[in-house]
Amino acid sequence: MAFFNPSRPSYVADPYPALHRLREEAPVFYSAEHDAWIVTSYEACVQVLQDYEVYSSAVTEAPGRLGDRVRRVKHASVLGTAPRIGQQDPPAHSRLRGVVARAFTPRHVEAMRPAIEAHVASLIDVIAGLEGGRPVEAMRALCEPLPAAVVSAQLGAPEEDRARVLGWARALMQVEGADLSPERRALAVEARDGLLGYLGRVAAGETGDPDSLIASLARAGAGEERLDLGELLALVIDLSLAGNDNTSNLVGNGILALAAHPEQQALLRERPDLLPAAVDEVLRYDAPQQAAVRFVAAGAGEVTLGGERLEPGDVVIVMLGAANRDSAAFPDPDRFDITREGPRHLAFGLGPHFCIGAPLARMVGAAAFEALLARFEVVRLAGDIPVRHAPDWMARSARVIPLDTAPLLDRWGAPGTLEA
Ligand code: HEM
Repeated sequence: MAFFNPSRPSYVADPYPALHRLREEAPVFYSAEHDAWIVTSYEACVQVLQDYEVYSSAVTEAPGRLGDRVRRVKHASVLGTAPRIGQQDPPAHSRLRGVVARAFTPRHVEAMRPAIEAHVASLIDVIAGLEGGRPVEAMRALCEPLPAAVVSAQLGAPEEDRARVLGWARALMQVEGADLSPERRALAVEARDGLLGYLGRVAAGETGDPDSLIASLARAGAGEERLDLGELLALVIDLSLAGNDNTSNLVGNGILALAAHPEQQALLRERPDLLPAAVDEVLRYDAPQQAAVRFVAAGAGEVTLGGERLEPGDVVIVMLGAANRDSAAFPDPDRFDITREGPRHLAFGLGPHFCIGAPLARMVGAAAFEALLARFEVVRLAGDIPVRHAPDWMARSARVIPLDTAPLLDRWGAPGTLEA
């Protein structure tokens, strides 16, 4: 009988065998424990992500217990009741999406490249400068600090403001929706007002880079789009923080995949033109964000998915990482193959909510893998320390990646360590 138990240690270590079994036995499976449908076939995942009229993201409008809970949480939030970009369906969603898309152009993304490449290089320099050539824990040394640079570049805030802006964003993210004590509520209000005041100064051109993403958002808030202040804050928070963990995990999962497949690593060294394809194969093979959540819309009527009957209000969890390993879409799906062709993977989602940060994330991944291959004679793990993953089935996130530093080259391609 099919079952889904993502808290088992074997699932945390490697979810894919269990997801294969589930897909074979029940590709659309009702998990009583999660009170949700778990969808694992590529075909059904695509259907849910594309058909937003049936499978809605607008949780504030969800019928039943789900909607009640979200509305209660929103009502208590210091961010106000404005829905987040990920919590709306077209056409309402298209308005916010348009504001972000205009602020998030290829030019903006490309402008961040030098800062990102410099940051990768400096993080590897620090690793190289560590004494004794001992293994480093790559998540902490490389993958986690990397998106911080991306966010700074993206915010375009002057150096001295960045920590404050991120601090406000984090404080608000942590408190959103929580049942707040008066003290925490006061802190949240302080963070909200701090961030709003800052955005007002950016919009007025008093501080920050007028060409930055945050400046375009701030202007959109003050200008004709008339973004509600709650919407503006939520956008800044989403763009500052949403991609962080996913991007760290892309780089971490890539190190693991390259280390486990030395022949693919060698091929990538031989054929640097495969770098973009390698980034996408990492995303397919080990999707950083494993799940996207929808619910059956109130007016959807009778809904059948993968032969199962779903009711309005039912929660549907699209298992992106499972879809990416479906042999019906990807032949020999457990093989890591950077020359793979075929349908698009779902690591960035699909349809109206397709990840808006995808070009940026791809650039960060490519910069990291390129630098790792240039600076390490071979990217490999130190064999005696086990890899560990976080017990979070919605993300594929390593906690310990023991990177062997013995094969490190200096900046000029010679073996040996570098003075930090
Ligand atoms: C490897 C890194 C990343 C992965 C795997 C990833 C994954 C995803 C996925 C799967 C979705 C769709 C969720 C859904 O359909 O419910 C999404 C949406 C989104 N992502 Fe990313 N993301 C990454 C990086 C980023 C970055 C760097 C940013 C921001 C700079 C970002 C911002 C967003 C936003 C704002 C949305 C919501 C879009 C909408 O609802 O229209 N992401 N992301």
